[in-house]
Amino acid sequence: MDTRTDGSKPIETDNDLLRFITCGSVDDGKSTLIGRLLHDSKQIFEDQMSALEKDSVRHGTTGEDIDFALLVDGLEAEREQGITIDVAYRFFATPRRSFIVADTPGHEQYTRNMATGASNAELAVILIDARKGVLVQTKRHSFICSLLGVKHVVVAVNKIDLVDYSQEVFDRIVADYTSFAAQLGFKTVMPIPLSARYGENVVERSAKMPWYKGPSIIEYLEGVDVRSDELSKAFRFQVQWVNRPNLDFRGYAGTVASGRINKGDAVVVAASGRATKVEDIVTYDGSLEHAEAGDAVTITLADEVDIARGDILVEPKARPEVSDQFAAHIIWMNDEQLLPGRSYLIRIGTKTVPATITTIKHKIDVNTQEHLAATTLHLNDIAFVNVSTSVPVAFDPYAENRKTGSFIIIDRFKNQTVGAGMVDFGLRRGTNIHWQPLLIGKAERAGLKHQKPVILWFTGLSGSGKSTIANIVEQALNLTSHHTMLLDGDNVRHGLNRDLGFTEVDRVENIRRVGEVSKLMVDSGLIVLCSFISPYRTDRQMVRALVDEAEFLEVFVDTPVEDCIKRDPKGLYAKAKAGQLKNFTGIDAPYEAPEQPEIHLETVGKTPAQLAKQILDYLVEHKIIGLSGEPLALAPEWFRGSDI
Ligand code: ADX
Repeated sequence: MDTRTDGSKPIETDNDLLRFITCGSVDDGKSTLIGRLLHDSKQIFEDQMSALEKDSVRHGTTGEDIDFALLVDGLEAEREQGITIDVAYRFFATPRRSFIVADTPGHEQYTRNMATGASNAELAVILIDARKGVLVQTKRHSFICSLLGVKHVVVAVNKIDLVDYSQEVFDRIVADYTSFAAQLGFKTVMPIPLSARYGENVVERSAKMPWYKGPSIIEYLEGVDVRSDELSKAFRFQVQWVNRPNLDFRGYAGTVASGRINKGDAVVVAASGRATKVEDIVTYDGSLEHAEAGDAVTITLADEVDIARGDILVEPKARPEVSDQFAAHIIWMNDEQLLPGRSYLIRIGTKTVPATITTIKHKIDVNTQEHLAATTLHLNDIAFVNVSTSVPVAFDPYAENRKTGSFIIIDRFKNQTVGAGMVDFGLRRGTNIHWQPLLIGKAERAGLKHQKPVILWFTGLSGSGKSTIANIVEQALNLTSHHTMLLDGDNVRHGLNRDLGFTEVDRVENIRRVGEVSKLMVDSGLIVLCSFISPYRTDRQMVRALVDEAEFLEVFVDTPVEDCIKRDPKGLYAKAKAGQLKNFTGIDAPYEAPEQPEIHLETVGKTPAQLAKQILDYLVEHKIIGLSGEPLALAPEWFRGSDI
């Protein structure tokens, strides 16, 4: 998975390139091993060498010897902390192969970094300190690698010099590890005893362990076959952009995610099922007969087909699933918690769509792999969830295809990656439940009522006057023969939402449900007045997106918190201040004011009736309601514009 949202290009795959991740902590000798690999593969330049010698004397922990860990940590300028943070990618090469090493810290608080590093690694080197054996962290690292689809593992039993190059110790660790890892689904597990510090079994096979007959770690990494099944996978091409320089040319640019394609092959657009043939495969260097996984090409097709960025071209006989609901494992990567029901964006392949996490089925304890109940996720949490997208998307299970089965979760307002996920399977619910066509629609229903349906969404602090004003507006509308419904926070929480409290998670769900109900009411042709604190911008935005553009009017009931406290109609502010009421908006829970409300009511110094009139004037002005003749005569005095 690629967790960038800035559109920067990932490093291209290449056939004689091996990407691997090293897992372990500084204590296990991880940095020393990487430093050793870089050094012994002659990638260290002369000037780096002499600086290293000086630094080794100053900061080193290895006396006269060069401290290889400094080479790695030093590149990160993190030597003072003694730990590496973030994912550092390093490159080195031997005559037989090139390598990109993802180096991530091993501590639990860096789970997201490790997941990011593992997501594009083909192999993991799991370091184990020979003196300590398989630890909780070894299990955690292995679990994360397995979850992220790493299929090949090297168990590097390091510091074997400190246990006298003992075969017995090595064998015991290997037995421990293999019995634990049996459940993780790795294709290969290669244990190698080594001493990174002394270079035993790093490049050369060690003479100190005659009992070990296998390759050195470099030898193994040079030879291991991690791609044998890559090309035999189904063809997938994710369209990155439509290249249309003139009317005569229409090409689809992107990278072949998996499999291969030949000129003339039949292809299908995954989401629409539209079939056609590949006419040409174009690159800067001319036309190709075929393209395969990793190739960046432009494909032209035999027919004019409706294709946009985000579509996937696939082979007709091996199609991906297409659904708007799927189950997935996700890793939460943000300081702000995940809120089920909230609208996020997900980017799956090259397609970005609005989506919500509808259910957290369970969270997984990364150390014990135990399943735990959870209503929300925090930074570094891993969970099994259901995802619902606003439109159907095409995907493969991650276990089958990492490119078309992975996605990132993006915060809609901050445009930040907040999570990453791996699809497990499509949910039948999504694929088998269809829209039942209705013969009578919103227009007919509203037509009978002679009105335009709309949501008037009142948002503001508790005690700001939302309900009072909404009531007056509804009364006026009712007296003028409009069909209305008023949904009020306190009331809805007695019925439909009686199971919800005031945590962030519950408030998101409160507004989601009310949003859906309001939408149904708009569909039935009503003018719906909603009075909810609705403290989060994203959730109000979500309700707005449920209905047509002019059907959502945000009414900001803007009363400063000090005034609400002074009024305190239900005595709740006093309780909140006394600490008897938790998560009270404006006291110990946030309120995000609307940025561009359609109607902004500054309430201080005004009467509720004046404020209600401001809303009614807006509705008349924007031709949402018409006021003339009979109905108006029934309205109270103030409504006809006389003094209040
Ligand atoms: S919302 O934040 O989820 O939109 P909603 O509008 O449904 O809130 O309910 C708000 C009402 O619940 C308040 O007017 C108040 O009477 C009551 N209430 C009880 N506890 C709280 C709390 N912790 N924070 C805010 N309102 C609360």
